[in-house]
Amino acid sequence: MIGIFDSGAGGLSVFKEIRKILPDHHYIYYSDSAHCPYGEKTRDYIITRARTITDFLIDKGAEIIVVACNTATAAAISTLRKEYPHIPFIGMEPAVKPAAMQTRTGIIGVLATAGTLKAEKYIGTKDRFAPDAEVVEHTGDGFVELVEQGCISGEEAENTVRKSIAPLIEAGADTIVLGCTHYPFLTEVIKKVAEEIKPGHSINIIDPAPAVARHLLTVMAERDIATNSPEGFNIELHTSGDIEKLKSLYGKLK
Ligand code: DGL
Repeated sequence: MIGIFDSGAGGLSVFKEIRKILPDHHYIYYSDSAHCPYGEKTRDYIITRARTITDFLIDKGAEIIVVACNTATAAAISTLRKEYPHIPFIGMEPAVKPAAMQTRTGIIGVLATAGTLKAEKYIGTKDRFAPDAEVVEHTGDGFVELVEQGCISGEEAENTVRKSIAPLIEAGADTIVLGCTHYPFLTEVIKKVAEEIKPGHSINIIDPAPAVARHLLTVMAERDIATNSPEGFNIELHTSGDIEKLKSLYGKLK
């Protein structure tokens, strides 16, 4: 069984990619909706939540856990790996490396939460993989809330997205890294608004989820974890918040 967790429904963007390459697996998804968003919470707070959720997922039978949240990966994955050495953890990595390889202007935009942008893990990745690029960062203000409300198109979404992406586009970024798992659900809105801000300036948007899904498959092979379940596909949804709300978001976002 593959355990996946996030502060909310954002991790479903990662689940979607995983399901494409592991269609017949048994999944357990935990949305920490009662404590969402994680973006502005302290590192200790997120570590405590990540431990509680990890215990829950292991108790339910998870053999491998995907931390489908950039903020929780940055804050807690090293602690989880130390405290649960028998469980492999797969984390999110902001896709700065492919962005540095793909940019033509040499200017990369990174959208992520405040927690991710100030984490050592992110700063280390940026220094290592994009030393020559100019990296312009912005928090996706209100993006998580939009996705949690299932609002992924229309005027409200566009107005919210515009405020955070305008500084990136105006700075000349041609490549935008989505450094939070909620943001891929707003990709179409980001493209539309970017085109309005600078018509004809095509923007390359990079979501690390497909690479994370491939990495999961590699680790499962190394650890001898079966890549399908005899009963075929199944997903169990769990949350610290409202389960009906999560089920309806799953129906909309999956
Ligand atoms: N989806 C999360 C991430 O990837 C966290 C968003 C939040 O709770 O602030 O960072």
